Amino acid sequence: MFSSRLTTGTLLLAATCLLMTEDVSTKSVISCDNGFSVQHLSCDSGVISVQAALYGRADRETCSEGRPPQQLTNTKCSQQGTVDVLRRRCDGKRVCELSTHVVRTSDPCLGIFKYLETNYTCFPAFHLVVCEHSLARLYCDEGQVILVYGADYGRRDRTTCSYQRPASQIQNVYCSHPTRRVAESCNGKNSCIIRASNSVFGDPCVGTYKYLEVAYTCQYPV
Ligand SMILES: *[C@@H]1O[C@H](CO)[C@@H](O)[C@H](O)[C@H]1NC(C)=O
Repeated sequence: MFSSRLTTGTLLLAATCLLMTEDVSTKSVISCDNGFSVQHLSCDSGVISVQAALYGRADRETCSEGRPPQQLTNTKCSQQGTVDVLRRRCDGKRVCELSTHVVRTSDPCLGIFKYLETNYTCFPAFHLVVCEHSLARLYCDEGQVILVYGADYGRRDRTTCSYQRPASQIQNVYCSHPTRRVAESCNGKNSCIIRASNSVFGDPCVGTYKYLEVAYTCQYPV
């Protein structure tokens, strides 16, 4: 009797955990576009996988505080290609910050007060950061192969790979440069080494000390 109760309890607990994990792993962030807002996406484990993004307005309530009603009337306003911008900048990273002006390439609805809404999950992947001139070693267990989820060579914050570097080399944090090169040389292999250097990736921001960020998974070959 006791043992069966315990089993039920354990199962219930397991089910709750599962639900909680699912709940926690889908995140939604809304940044009102007042000209200088920053959107911050992050994962405690795994890497960012952008599911959907809207730049514009889909209802009258979101980001309406202090706004005159005429700025809220168009609720079918969305900028084309927003999700692609977000994916390009954030997929495969642990932390991703961007200013709303990055997605404001044109104005999808003049005079309407807009916002950026991003839905994302944290995708279970290995995450690796190596500073410029270092080697990144990707590897999987025996029998498995690498599948690169995302790679970026550049600089997106002031802290990563900054130890004893002069301020001038770490101040440009807008050097995001997603690259296919890691996938091209590593996908399908059990292990691979790639050099974080301009000779491999080109120099996306001259004078900045860069780093390579890679997210990958290991899979059994199909
Ligand atoms: C984000 O998810 C919420 C909740 O499921 C949904 O209401 C919203 O429309 C989604 N946003 C986008 C941009 O798809």
